[in-house]
Amino acid sequence: MNRFTCQLCLTVCLIALSLGSASAQTCSVTSCHYSIIGYREMHAPVKAKDCTACHVQKNMVHPILGGKSWDLVAKVPNLCVKCHTPFGKKNVVHPPVKEGECLGCHKPHGGSGRFLLDVSEDQTDLCVGCHDSTPFKQKFMHGPVAVGSCTKCHAPHEAAEKALLNAPVRNVCLTCHSNLATSLKEAKIIHKPVGEGPCTVCHNPHGSSVNKLLKKKMPDICLDCHVKMSKKLAGVKVPHKPILQESSCASCHAPHYSQDKGLLPFSEMETCLFCHGTGKLGTPPLRNIKKDLDKKKFLHGPINKGECKACHDPHGSDNFRMLRGSYPAEIYVPYVDGIYGSCLGCHEKNLLKYAETTIYTGFRNGNRNLHYVHVSNKRKGRTCRVCHEPHASDGEKLINKEGAKFGAWKIPVNFVISPTGGSCAPGCHRAFKYDRKTPEIYKLKK
Ligand code: HEC
Ligand code: HEC
Ligand code: HEC
Ligand code: HEC
Ligand code: HEC
Ligand code: HEC
Ligand code: HEC
Ligand code: HEC
Ligand code: HEC
Ligand code: HEC
Ligand code: HEC
Ligand code: HEC
Ligand code: HEC
Repeated sequence: MNRFTCQLCLTVCLIALSLGSASAQTCSVTSCHYSIIGYREMHAPVKAKDCTACHVQKNMVHPILGGKSWDLVAKVPNLCVKCHTPFGKKNVVHPPVKEGECLGCHKPHGGSGRFLLDVSEDQTDLCVGCHDSTPFKQKFMHGPVAVGSCTKCHAPHEAAEKALLNAPVRNVCLTCHSNLATSLKEAKIIHKPVGEGPCTVCHNPHGSSVNKLLKKKMPDICLDCHVKMSKKLAGVKVPHKPILQESSCASCHAPHYSQDKGLLPFSEMETCLFCHGTGKLGTPPLRNIKKDLDKKKFLHGPINKGECKACHDPHGSDNFRMLRGSYPAEIYVPYVDGIYGSCLGCHEKNLLKYAETTIYTGFRNGNRNLHYVHVSNKRKGRTCRVCHEPHASDGEKLINKEGAKFGAWKIPVNFVISPTGGSCAPGCHRAFKYDRKTPEIYKLKK
């Protein structure tokens, strides 16, 4: 205001006052306090020009230079609760409300925004006037926080819940994330902390430096609770590559719920074949297991039950190919006890032990244990893969039809089974027959 308008204002007001005490009409109609009725959003009593609902004249002279001729009817907050319901009945009261600092947030006459606030729908500026603004300036911001809708989750004055939340955390989250609420109701498997705990054990409600508002990056967020798994992964010699990649645990597990066991997105086997059905993983590429199983006449027992994890540990292991037990990587190895833990954990543990047997294997010529002959050789034992497929085969007894890879060459076994034995005509020797009842007579050199 320049001097002239000040003068004018003063004159008009004085004229008004000289007609008696200041009336509401005169205060605002005149240009003295015009700004008070100039707010976009006005307080109801102000809009009604009822100044004396809150102000009382204590000095007949108004205005007085350097003095006050008006008082408030009562001090804030008592003034406010003359017309509004007082706060303080709920568990958690916002400290400025408790202290009666209504004017820390509200303007008494009006504001540029609703609720006598000087903020638009975006309340951030109001709140960070007192609160640290760091949580609200993260790389990834939560939708409602990014637009400053703090009161979508928080009560500004008081609440029954901690952190002034409008409801318990889970309920607050699920009112907006209603799709998730529905899915959780229909899900067969619910991750325990999702079903029972607050969503904030994993998510930051406001914002985060990690995508999806996670409190920590994968897999740390999971391993903080899954401590045993954490220890195991730390020492593992053959890790499973997806765990080391960005989505880590989430490349196989759903974080919240699933229809399948173990929080898997599909059945266990489908989950594995989702990646191992391409033949494009790794250099040189790993076998396309989906193709290996497709239309095969014989599936290995555990695979028939849909279990890959019976042999492989999906989280990595210390053995070749993440197998749960030992298994040699090479095609021929000098035999020592214990190197086939992977197979003998399920199969006859004496399979490879005795040169002669009548019970431990059907692969014998009379009593002569042909597994022993081929595998238990201390100089150059054949590994199971020379004859068997680990996953599936068109041949009986999982015999390898196409043959094991030997460099670029595949060694076909040409196995034919009979009720009491069988015959092979492999790439490594001439055709041989074996018979458990009436043994073929061979003179084999040692
Ligand atoms: C709902 C109560 C309420 C009503 C109604 C009200 N005021 Fe106020 N007014 C206040 C409060 C509270 C303060 C003190 C603000 C502060 O301390 O920051 C105030 C301060 C003032 C001030 C001094 C500071 C300022 O903001 O300029 C003037 C002038 C004023 N009011 C004029 C008016 C006029 C004119 C009216 C009617 C049009 C009016 N008030 C209606 C509550 C009210
Ligand atoms: C003389 C009565 C009276 C007093 C005193 C009073 N108010 Fe109000 N206030 C009202 C009325 C009437 C409304 C309109 C209520 C409605 O629309 O439901 C209102 C509305 C409000 C609103 C909501 C505005 C909106 O945009 O919806 C706020 C915030 C508010 N008052 C704060 C205060 C504060 C803070 C004080 C004390 C400084 C105060 N009031 C004192 C009568 C009063
Ligand atoms: C920390 C800031 C803050 C303080 C302090 C505060 N309010 Fe509010 N108040 C708000 C906000 C924000 C809203 C708008 C709520 C929304 O968005 O739904 C609001 C809304 C209101 C409303 C209208 C809606 C309702 O909840 O009834 C009234 C009336 C009100 N406040 C009165 C008061 C009074 C009286 C005091 C002092 C005892 C006070 N407020 C202190 C932030 C505050
Ligand atoms: C006038 C200052 C002031 C303003 C403005 C203010 N707060 Fe606060 N708020 C405080 C103080 C003081 C505390 C208590 C100390 C603390 O926890 O930081 C607090 C605490 C809180 C808490 C924690 C309560 C608890 O029990 O854990 C929440 C949540 C909160 N404020 C939300 C808000 C929101 C949302 C806004 C904006 C609508 C806001 N505050 C505006 C002063 C303010
Ligand atoms: C989507 C819901 C939601 C929104 C929107 C939201 N908050 Fe929160 N806020 C929470 C939850 C949940 C907590 C409790 C966190 C906990 O328990 O660890 C919280 C806690 C707080 C606290 C207590 C201190 C802390 O960080 O734990 C403050 C202060 C706070 N919020 C301020 C704000 C402000 C300011 C805004 C708006 C810019 C806002 N909040 C928007 C959900 C929300
Ligand atoms: C007021 C409604 C609302 C509430 C309450 C709410 N959210 Fe959200 N949330 C949203 C919106 C909107 C988005 C953005 C959706 C999008 O981008 O597709 C979102 C996105 C998210 C995302 C994904 C972020 C991303 O980067 O993709 C997570 C995680 C999330 N919310 C968790 C929570 C949690 C935890 C709570 C409870 C503390 C919660 N939400 C409460 C509205 C809400
Ligand atoms: C055990 C940790 C954990 C808990 C508890 C948790 N979440 Fe999540 N949430 C995650 C992870 C991890 C992701 C990211 C998944 C991804 O990257 O594919 C996620 C993603 C989201 C998303 C983004 C949508 C999507 O699928 O990409 C929303 C929304 C969400 N969570 C909401 C919630 C809500 C609401 C709760 C509470 C009912 C909750 N979360 C509890 C770990 C959790
Ligand atoms: C807050 C702790 C917590 C966090 C964080 C957590 N979990 Fe869990 N998780 C649990 C609990 C508790 C169980 C139930 C264990 C039980 O029943 O023995 C569980 C069970 C599981 C299960 C087995 C489910 C079943 O039904 O077989 C899987 C898989 C799992 N969590 C994966 C994850 C992944 C992936 C993450 C990271 C996105 C994660 N968890 C983060 C606590 C947590
Ligand atoms: C390649 C897929 C895959 C990845 C990646 C993966 N898992 Fe698993 N996880 C599985 C399978 C398969 C199961 C067995 C599910 C069943 O049948 O119960 C399982 C089971 C679990 C179980 C419950 C049983 C147990 O072994 O304790 C937990 C907990 C678990 N995983 C946590 C994790 C965590 C944490 C990560 C990330 C570090 C992770 N998983 C990464 C496939 C995976
Ligand atoms: C998200 C994709 C993905 C899923 C799902 C997946 N894998 Fe893998 N797997 C890989 C990748 C990538 C490699 C490493 C390829 C390479 O060598 O670079 C790998 C390697 C392997 C290896 C060879 C490990 C080695 O280093 O010798 C085995 C065995 C294996 N996976 C079994 C499984 C089983 C069993 C499942 C189901 C429980 C499964 N995978 C699920 C991506 C996946
Ligand atoms: C009965 C035990 C067993 C089961 C069950 C099993 N595997 Fe294997 N898997 C093996 C053995 C043994 C090898 C090593 C084969 C070799 O090197 O000759 C292997 C090798 C692999 C390889 C590496 C292939 C390569 O290129 O060398 C992958 C990938 C694999 N398995 C995935 C799977 C998947 C997916 C499932 C479930 C559909 C599964 N396995 C079920 C025993 C098993
Ligand atoms: C998790 C247990 C398990 C493991 C480990 C396992 N197998 Fe098997 N295997 C089975 C089951 C079950 C059958 C089906 C038995 C039946 O039908 O009588 C089977 C069948 C076989 C057969 C066909 C036998 C027949 O009578 O048709 C051969 C050959 C075989 N397995 C070899 C292996 C080799 C080689 C390994 C190691 C790489 C291995 N198995 C590891 C469980 C296992
Ligand atoms: C030289 C080829 C050859 C090698 C190497 C070989 N097998 Fe066999 N295996 C056979 C034949 C042939 C049969 C079918 C016997 C019959 O029933 O006539 C068989 C049968 C089996 C059976 C069915 C039960 C039985 O003993 O009759 C199992 C289990 C088995 N083999 C496991 C293994 C394991 C484990 C290895 C590696 C340690 C292995 N085999 C190595 C040829 C081989």
